Amino acid sequence: MRIILLGPPGAGKGTQAKNLSEILKIVHISTGDILREEVKNNTALGQQAKKYIDAGGLVPDDLVIQMLKTWLGRKDGFILDGFPRNLNQAQALDKLLDEAGNKIDAVFYLDASEAVIIGRLSGRRICSQCQAIYHIQNMPPKIEGICDKCQGRLYQRSDDQEETIKRRLEVYLKETATLIDYYKRQGKLYYINADRQAEGVIEDILKITKNFS
Ligand code: AP5
Repeated sequence: MRIILLGPPGAGKGTQAKNLSEILKIVHISTGDILREEVKNNTALGQQAKKYIDAGGLVPDDLVIQMLKTWLGRKDGFILDGFPRNLNQAQALDKLLDEAGNKIDAVFYLDASEAVIIGRLSGRRICSQCQAIYHIQNMPPKIEGICDKCQGRLYQRSDDQEETIKRRLEVYLKETATLIDYYKRQGKLYYINADRQAEGVIEDILKITKNFS
């Protein structure tokens, strides 16, 4: 099964993708997580990507598409989180899959309101070791600042500051929201109300994925 989670920053794509990956037993590919790892390891790609991430803009398409090529060739399917981000990336994805005789089965559009998004992003904390996602109020760890799963230290993403959040939302509306129509036209788009507890969101997604397994 090949699925995409689409939606604004903070809608819960990463949270849902990590849980879906365990339940459906398919790999979770997060371009944000991969890029942050490259930045952490100070690789050539990480050095190029950092300025775009910190400014809340998109990393250039050619870098991101190149980075994803080996992941997309997987025969056992995947959950894409954070990719594609614009029309050019969506078309490149379709082309790469088509060449390999594969296709996207479903695109879940996680819709969340701006007030909810801002509250979620400003309280988000990430594990520095395993990238597990927490929220200081909604999904707190058992011990403050420490990951429940691997005891790693939790940190706040550098792009989760108020000004950068605003910029990311602008970029989302300008570049990424156009993909809603793109996938609607392909008959692959499923609307999911993400303005509610995570359990209800995943339940709705799983009901639909049953049609593809
Ligand atoms: P990326 O990491 O992809 O960030 P994003 O798309 O902005 O999305 P987020 O990770 O902020 O939010 P999310 O929807 O995953 O929410 P989460 O589950 O964490 O990208 C970062 C940057 O990398 C980009 O700005 C860009 O520079 C670059 N980049 C990445 N991909 C790229 C690409 N393809 N092309 C070019 N550049 C790219 O949840 C948020 C918070 O809410 C958490 O605290 C969580 O605990 C909480 N929460 C989640 N669900 C719920 C719920 N239902 N109820 C209550 N709380 C909830």
